[in-house]
Amino acid sequence: MKLSDTATLLALAATASAEAIQLPVARNAAGSAARKRHPRLSKRATITESLVNNVTEGGYYASVSVGTPGQALTMVLDTGSSDGFVISADADLCTEKRLQLLYDETCGATYNSSESSTYKDLIPDGFEIEYADGTTAEGSYITDDFSIGGKTVKNLQLGLASQTAVGTGILGIGFELNEAAEKQYSNLVASMANQSLIPTMAYSLYLNDYYSSMGSIVFGGVDTDKFIGNLNTVPILKDSVSGEYSSFTVGLSGLEFAFANGTSYTQSLSSEGGTLDSILDSGTTLTYLPDTIATPLFEAVGAYQYSEFLSESTLAIVDCALDLNFTFRINSTATIVVPRDELVLDVLTGSDGDDSLPSDIPFANPCLFGIQNMGDESEESGGGGGDSTSISTSTDYAILGDSFLRSAYVVYDLDNLQIGIAQANLNSTSSNVQELSADASGLPAFSGVASQTASSPTSSSGSGSSSSSSGTSTASGSSASGTSTSASGEASCTSGLSLVVVLLFVSCCLVG
Ligand SMILES: *[C@@H]1O[C@H](CO)[C@@H](O)[C@H](O)[C@H]1NC(C)=O
Ligand SMILES: *[C@@H]1O[C@H](CO)[C@@H](O)[C@H](O)[C@H]1NC(C)=O
Ligand SMILES: *[C@@H]1O[C@H](CO)[C@@H](O)[C@H](O)[C@H]1NC(C)=O
Ligand SMILES: *[C@@H]1O[C@H](CO)[C@@H](O)[C@H](O)[C@H]1NC(C)=O
Ligand SMILES: *[C@@H]1O[C@H](CO)[C@@H](O)[C@H](O)[C@H]1NC(C)=O
Ligand SMILES: *[C@@H]1O[C@H](CO)[C@@H](O)[C@H](O)[C@H]1NC(C)=O
Ligand SMILES: *[C@@H]1O[C@H](CO)[C@@H](O)[C@H](O)[C@H]1NC(C)=O
Repeated sequence: MKLSDTATLLALAATASAEAIQLPVARNAAGSAARKRHPRLSKRATITESLVNNVTEGGYYASVSVGTPGQALTMVLDTGSSDGFVISADADLCTEKRLQLLYDETCGATYNSSESSTYKDLIPDGFEIEYADGTTAEGSYITDDFSIGGKTVKNLQLGLASQTAVGTGILGIGFELNEAAEKQYSNLVASMANQSLIPTMAYSLYLNDYYSSMGSIVFGGVDTDKFIGNLNTVPILKDSVSGEYSSFTVGLSGLEFAFANGTSYTQSLSSEGGTLDSILDSGTTLTYLPDTIATPLFEAVGAYQYSEFLSESTLAIVDCALDLNFTFRINSTATIVVPRDELVLDVLTGSDGDDSLPSDIPFANPCLFGIQNMGDESEESGGGGGDSTSISTSTDYAILGDSFLRSAYVVYDLDNLQIGIAQANLNSTSSNVQELSADASGLPAFSGVASQTASSPTSSSGSGSSSSSSGTSTASGSSASGTSTSASGEASCTSGLSLVVVLLFVSCCLVG
């Protein structure tokens, strides 16, 4: 996603108040170039890999390997950006204590180009990206072999960050049109398709339950054990800022919630009764609504908007006792129910949370709300004399981040410009991967399981997380289709037709 409006960008960055959101902003408008459809393949394949969610700021991490011999790295999986970049072994953040203190960030595993025989420097000093939370990374574009889910993409173009504010590389899997590079290039998903590792530029993302540390992504296929009912197909819309198919924008047609006592509330999304452009972004932790929509919603749920000292942006906080489910309707077709656990987040207390909260918060037990405002209509006070400068930068789109996405199973079909979406079947440990076809004119119909799989009897001892202690015991991926997930977080695919990647969820430091 490209945000052309700097003020909006700053407001959003401030709202995040921590490194929790990773909203990408391409530096260069790849812009006017017409979208090139990728040549379709005759050879078929799909790929699945596990996603991990516990590394640093609450994100989904994939295990990858770069170079020859392979250097093992984890990267944040991000549907909201389109460049992959790795951290150079000699990056400033990794070597300078001052920067580590400044960004409150240290380097994870890094990549040393000198130790790879397949490394090539492609565009020296040509890589520069900035995300809307203010995070930046820059360096060169290189090419090297890139392995994910047991398959290797040859000569993938990647950013090699030598100056970075983040210690973990980011794997952007959005449209090529949103790349930060001046010249559009074949990114991971396009290269996988081009090199016949997957049949079509599509993948399915399963982030799984808030309390689960494992999700998964299937490149080139759909896992029908991971969702409930039929997979609904909705069109991807042109990005409201770029006017191009550059983000995973869908039309949000309804937003409702009900309290435990049955009182329900319907939020109006647009004055004309139309839909609200909403970007599906796995690289953003929470869900962000334009202020005009968020403000009445906060009032209805009794959220308190807390302003950080010297900051114009606010953070919506609710009573931890709040009990409500939210219903999101996408293009009147798909209905996703987001449960309380995703929306009332008990992350404000503990280690260093309390001291940053003001004493006038009207709740004894404050929780972070899973839905925040964009901060697009904040007013900045002028110097003195009571005159205030209003920054009129209202946005007309929402960002549906992980707090929404965990409740959904989402198929991102970049070739057909469609999204497949259904209620996620949480904590599913089985899989049934169906391969997508290269020559389909749209996403085919898929049916998932009939109802939410009962929680596994082994984790009956209440508020789980016991399952994640051993870490490497990746959820049993044995399945009807024979796809099995290995302990290393990579997956082998017996059929050779799909690539399954296990993702690890890492949560920490939502509010800094
Ligand atoms: C990168 O690898 C080279 C060759 O092994 C080594 O000399 C150099 O110290 C490494 N750089 C870093 C920053 O680890
Ligand atoms: C992959 O990309 C190259 C360069 O753009 C192109 O020549 C080739 O036909 C593509 N291969 C496939 C299988 O799409
Ligand atoms: C909703 O879906 C229909 C049918 O695919 C499509 O024609 C329409 O443009 C979509 N509208 C929005 C706002 O997503
Ligand atoms: C939310 O949904 C769950 C599952 O359907 C249900 O058990 C719970 O009572 C609902 N809570 C509210 C406040 O509606
Ligand atoms: C239901 O609960 C909500 C939130 O506590 C409250 O605002 C509302 O007044 C209640 N409605 C009824 C009919 O009690
Ligand atoms: C998934 O498992 C976790 C424990 O690991 C549990 O807290 C959560 O309620 C489960 N979700 C569902 C929908 O059963
Ligand atoms: C992330 O989870 C893995 C597996 O559970 C564990 O080995 C690792 O130490 C965790 N990392 C952090 C930073 O918590």
